[in-house]
Amino acid sequence: MVTRGITQIVCLTFVLSLKLSPVYQQSLAQAGANVGSLGGMVGGFLGSVLSGTHGRRINAVSYSLPTPPVLYGPTTPNQELVNAEKVHMGLINGPASFAFHQGELFAGTRDNKVYNLARCKPKLVADLSFPGCEQTSSCGQLTSLRRDPSTGDLIALDTDKGLFRIKNDTGTFEQIYSVDVPVNGRPPVHLNDLVVTKDGIIIMSDSSDAHEFGADVYIGMEGRTSGRLISFVPSTGVIRELLPNVMAFPNGLELTPEGNLLVAETGRVRILRVSLQRATWLQVSVFAQNLPGLPDNIRASDRGTYWVGMSYVRHSRSQNPMDRYAGDAYYRQMGAATMSYQSLQNMFSKYGMAVELNAAGAIIKSLQDPSGQTISMVTEVNEFGGVMNIGSPDTNYLARIVNPQRGLKADSFIAVARSRCQLDDSKVAEARKTLEAQMSKTAVTVTPAKKV
Ligand SMILES: *[C@@H]1O[C@H](CO)[C@@H](O)[C@H](O)[C@H]1NC(C)=O
Repeated sequence: MVTRGITQIVCLTFVLSLKLSPVYQQSLAQAGANVGSLGGMVGGFLGSVLSGTHGRRINAVSYSLPTPPVLYGPTTPNQELVNAEKVHMGLINGPASFAFHQGELFAGTRDNKVYNLARCKPKLVADLSFPGCEQTSSCGQLTSLRRDPSTGDLIALDTDKGLFRIKNDTGTFEQIYSVDVPVNGRPPVHLNDLVVTKDGIIIMSDSSDAHEFGADVYIGMEGRTSGRLISFVPSTGVIRELLPNVMAFPNGLELTPEGNLLVAETGRVRILRVSLQRATWLQVSVFAQNLPGLPDNIRASDRGTYWVGMSYVRHSRSQNPMDRYAGDAYYRQMGAATMSYQSLQNMFSKYGMAVELNAAGAIIKSLQDPSGQTISMVTEVNEFGGVMNIGSPDTNYLARIVNPQRGLKADSFIAVARSRCQLDDSKVAEARKTLEAQMSKTAVTVTPAKKV
């Protein structure tokens, strides 16, 4: 109640007068200082009114979120992200999404390049950036990389341009969908993630009808169900809109073994399951809820589980404006309008987090950096053969955790050894043969012991 009153004052002063008398400015500053102890957005409003920064007009709606979870059991704070191996330090810029196949680790980076990281030095496979671009933000933004299971090609999603098909060996690429092409009457605003079904159909998420990549916080602050999915058939060019106005910030996507679709609904801190079966086509159910963060990409591991990267954390000891002001659209509206984007982002605590979900959607493990000093944002975790590759927009290296107890395989061993410059290109075939022989022997002796 008190805080609401104060916001209204701020609102009025902001709207009524941009040129305040010095005396009035002083009293407002004092109010700011007093209110500052309440923390959060109120102080932020006042601060930005005084400094004259402008945000963005959003269309906030009221919604509700469950009480943020307590971190315990599998989410008890740990240092796994802090202790991760740092691979190719300084040689890549924000590896965000991965495609692993046959000992090759392809990575899409924030400056719109695709590398093979399973090499002694990162090997540039394709450069999708605008020619001559200098800053990451002006190079286009690669948000998702996948392998087309039917052709072996890489499919890359650049949120600024659209879809690209890349030959994994030569690196030659072609654009197969441009964001200039409208989908049910309007072009996508914020293409985010993609899956390729075994029939070669591409499904993408379009996170918002108003806020582009790089303005993600506004989508969360707004809370509207303004996202949609898009299906695209490369062979015919047919493109369709799926589930418009159902999801608040649809983000990461993954296919289940049954061929259904998981969708991270970031604005509701949960994962939905969307049926792709004929009889129950596009029926939506909840797969996982009240996650300890805002979910980004979802990636199936080779263990029948799913890794979910988190852009921001939320738990009982760390609140953010989306939780705190879920029921107060007016507040969020004012915050977005008056605060700078940077100050909005600063209201979410820096804390690295990724969770592993089992096939039923329950959290079974987490990787964390509680201080957010090493990795404060996880875009995705790609796990194969006991190796977890961690994507983040802020690292200039590949963060990696090697845990042989999670089922080392010849391909993952080879990828790690090559990236550490411990295995020469000419020895790869031989090494694979030896490893596979050894591993099959181990499996034979291990399996009966387990059954006892
Ligand atoms: C590269 O593509 C070819 C098909 O063109 C496929 O056979 C091969 O497995 C792919 N390799 C990788 C590492 O994806």
